Amino acid sequence: MLLRILGTAAGGGLPQWNCGCPGCQAARQASAGTHPLYQSSVAVRATDGPWFLVNASPDVRQQLERLRDSHSSPIRCSPIAGVLLTDAEIDHTTGLVILRESAEPLRVYGTDTVRRALTEGFPLLRTLEGYCGIEWSVFELDVTTTLSLGETSGLEVEVFPLQGKPPKYMRSHAEVEGEGWAVGLTFRGSTGGVITYTPALAELDDRLLERFESSDCILVDGTFWRNDELPALGITDRTARAMGHLPLSGPDGSLERLAKLSRPRKILIHINNTNPILIPNSVERRIVEEAGIEVGYDGLTVEL
Ligand code: MLT
Ligand code: MN
Ligand code: ZN
Repeated sequence: MLLRILGTAAGGGLPQWNCGCPGCQAARQASAGTHPLYQSSVAVRATDGPWFLVNASPDVRQQLERLRDSHSSPIRCSPIAGVLLTDAEIDHTTGLVILRESAEPLRVYGTDTVRRALTEGFPLLRTLEGYCGIEWSVFELDVTTTLSLGETSGLEVEVFPLQGKPPKYMRSHAEVEGEGWAVGLTFRGSTGGVITYTPALAELDDRLLERFESSDCILVDGTFWRNDELPALGITDRTARAMGHLPLSGPDGSLERLAKLSRPRKILIHINNTNPILIPNSVERRIVEEAGIEVGYDGLTVEL
């Protein structure tokens, strides 16, 4: 199995168009070893199978260009066999519109809750009916699905529920409570490798820690360093926890518990541009690395 990070930054990317925080400024000036990062997405494939895109970011056009096989050039050739969605957030779904040129209906996997959000609140699915169309496959919670295309060997993905929050655009809709707003994915390749991906982590309970401990590699929500990161910068009143992202530092932050895991390789993803761990010479970056945790980067590939 191969997994490649296509975008390491959270929504807004690095730099974000309207942001002058130290991380965005460093990325603009390419100073202190800070480089621009695309928005949150990964691609995954079985060793001899097609790529599947996991979350479709607004940067998907440039991201997919990096997945292309330069040898194959029929007039229309998609570098991906389908799109897996872990939630209905704008940064994880807007890329579907960019994929409207698809010659076939796009194969999209997601929960019923996500499908409803993308039909009622942010009606991408209805919009795309006039273009390529969508072939929706339901992600059932706690069920393993085999992703395959034609003759090629499959890749197994287990879908598990996370304590997600509805996207802001769904707040005015009735019945937004319930499960399925955010899921995590555990991929199992044919050679036994296990990768778990959780880009939106609101809580880290024992059950999830056990899942992490029985994985070879985990890609985990590293959105914020501090719970009050955005309020402290005067950007918004909303804390990391209120936004459904467990901060890395502080009491009950994720860092301490992730550091204690012994088996998996641990990589942070979905990192907000305000998070000081994106600046390589920062104190916070050193704390993360000394805890045995890696800060992801675009192009990082895990092979298992
Ligand atoms: C999130 O990860 O919390 C959302 O993507 C935030 C947003 O883009 O509004
Ligand atoms: Mn996001
Ligand atoms: Zn910024």
